[in-house]
Amino acid sequence: MTPRDASALEPAELNETEAAAELARLAALLDRLSRAYHNHDAPEATDAEYDALLRRNEAIERIHPDLVRADTPTARVGAPPEGGFAKHAHLVPMLSLDNVFDRAEFEGFTARARRFLGLKEAELRLVAEPKIDGLSISLTFEHGRFVRGATRGDGAVGEDVTANLRTLRGLPERLHGEAPALIEIRGEVFLRKQDFLHLNNVQAEAGQRLFANPRNAAAGSLRQLDPAITAGRPLSLFAYAQGRSSEPVAGTHSGYLDRLRGWGFAVNPLSAVLEGAEAAERFQAQLALDRSGLPYDIDGVVYKIDDLSLQERLGFVGRAPRWAVAWKFPAEQAITRLEDIRIQVGRTGALTPVAVLEPVNVGGVLVTRATLHNADEIARKDVRPGDRVQLQRAGDVIPQILRRIEEPGVARGPEWRFPDHCPACGSKAVRPEGEVVVRCTGGLVCPAQTVERLIHLVSRLAFDIEGLGEKSIAEFHEAGLIRTPADIFRLTPEQLRGREGWKEVSIAKLIRAIDEKRTVPLARFIFGLGIRRIGETNARLLARHYGSYAEWRAQMQAATVVGSDERLALGSISGIGGAIADELATFFGEAHNRDAVDDLAGTMREIGNESAPDSAALAGRTIVFTGSLATMTRPEAKAMAERLGAKVTDTVSRKTDLVVLGAEAGSKAKKAAELGIETLDEAGWRRLAGLPDEHG
Ligand code: IVH
Repeated sequence: MTPRDASALEPAELNETEAAAELARLAALLDRLSRAYHNHDAPEATDAEYDALLRRNEAIERIHPDLVRADTPTARVGAPPEGGFAKHAHLVPMLSLDNVFDRAEFEGFTARARRFLGLKEAELRLVAEPKIDGLSISLTFEHGRFVRGATRGDGAVGEDVTANLRTLRGLPERLHGEAPALIEIRGEVFLRKQDFLHLNNVQAEAGQRLFANPRNAAAGSLRQLDPAITAGRPLSLFAYAQGRSSEPVAGTHSGYLDRLRGWGFAVNPLSAVLEGAEAAERFQAQLALDRSGLPYDIDGVVYKIDDLSLQERLGFVGRAPRWAVAWKFPAEQAITRLEDIRIQVGRTGALTPVAVLEPVNVGGVLVTRATLHNADEIARKDVRPGDRVQLQRAGDVIPQILRRIEEPGVARGPEWRFPDHCPACGSKAVRPEGEVVVRCTGGLVCPAQTVERLIHLVSRLAFDIEGLGEKSIAEFHEAGLIRTPADIFRLTPEQLRGREGWKEVSIAKLIRAIDEKRTVPLARFIFGLGIRRIGETNARLLARHYGSYAEWRAQMQAATVVGSDERLALGSISGIGGAIADELATFFGEAHNRDAVDDLAGTMREIGNESAPDSAALAGRTIVFTGSLATMTRPEAKAMAERLGAKVTDTVSRKTDLVVLGAEAGSKAKKAAELGIETLDEAGWRRLAGLPDEHG
């Protein structure tokens, strides 16, 4: 049976295995998007797309609470710092805000707060503050002196950007007047619209990358390793919150804002004290009108309960306070002309259409590019180069094309066709059935993909070449030393000599490490090729099924013929299925992939044969998994055990033959010990299931 595509199903339709797979996919995806957004200042998805994924994740977790992952995206804010700056642990975590979009949702917020506090009638006094989409920072003052400033990071630990913050105007080096011995002051660092446009002009003239929006520009500027560069960027600051304080400084938030002003901070002058939803709605509407005239971009209004003792009682739920909410504005829109549609090749070979636009100002941001997502979107919207289009920018996002504007009487250009070849390498581009994404099939030769593929090839679960990491691969690729997988095995000491950071000893070590891997198990060889959908497990299944490299290689060639016996046989391997067979056939259907595989195989000393697993070890036995496994989810482990003929149950009893103990295994581990049942740790389980040792 072909596995269903979990990502296309509603949360309620997912079975346990699919839900686990989907949560794993979402965790990885949200992590990547969050890193792109926070660490690289280059968002890959719109806010709306990100939020939708996060909501989907939450929905699945609600239905399958026992599948919630240790690294669940719901419990995370932002992304952890990626090095370069020292880490700084916030004394009080920096959290996020829940969003509302209309009056009803806003009243839901106040109603929840009132219910929580047991307040029946009384309106809550609120402070409204324009929500600037910059980046939040925490400033620590000791005895009135500014000693440390840090970004939010993951909410608990941020990056120490003290030196860069000292270049900020509007940040007092010393608090005026009386101040607590220790206080953390929080605020938003941002670029004014004018400063943003100016900065991008300078960037353009210098031939540098343009920033997508003021938020990314501010983040990029603050995270410069050289404070002199930050000093040249006119960043602004508004202070609006507090973290730890050694003594109370106010009884109300509005009183606290007054203290901030008194100490010498810039506080948003539009902040106002209000009472009730009615007043909030008026404030919201007024600011929506004034918005385009403000010198900085805002994407909504933050409403905070004024009374700090109530704030304290309300506390937090998850990653957001119960005492504050962000009421977001609807997205900003504009109309412009679509000049061209270009194809971008992602690192995984996904071809993404990008709209090239006649530059247009949308809420202070000059937009020249927009995402068109995929071929279906283009067809659905029926947009062609030359058309007038309406686009939307919602806060910190890649702008999107909403629709085509009809121009009666104006002749349109020809319908745009999605290319059937990769613009980066010329390989065939295919769209697997049931998917929206068109992919380049030149995995091993496409320059847009090679570096990622090569990194995968040498990674721990594949060839596991010690001392050859991402950095060296990228460096050697850049220098033209390695272009294809086999090139790695053809590296010579001469090629490395004279390269920065490479000495005789390290060169000899690397060459030896590479040479060692000329003997490789077939499963690792297959996995290392990085064929889509051929992960570690499937590589292992293939290796076992075909036994030897020669047999596998010959069968893959034959399986490229649709309807051939070999293709059918491939698809009917338990655990492989038709869709994966198609992926393999596509891969081997490309001559340059075949060449690259053969070339790589030619540099090997031995590709180890694979024998069927010792299934007798599991067949007919009753097995229980408990605790969390590091290399696979529990549902995946269960499915694997079942495939190998075991019976999987959830409770440990006298009938249990074997208990696999993951991390933090609790009562079941105790029970197993009491009953004298055989137990295995994760490594032992992997060996029993015939998987490679996790550490190579
Ligand atoms: S209060 C726990 N006040 O919005 C309180 N945040 O979506 C959290 N922001 O990370 C922050 N203006 O970067 C607060 N007046 C304001 C704000 C504000 C902008 C940002 C801030 C925060 C994000 C949450």
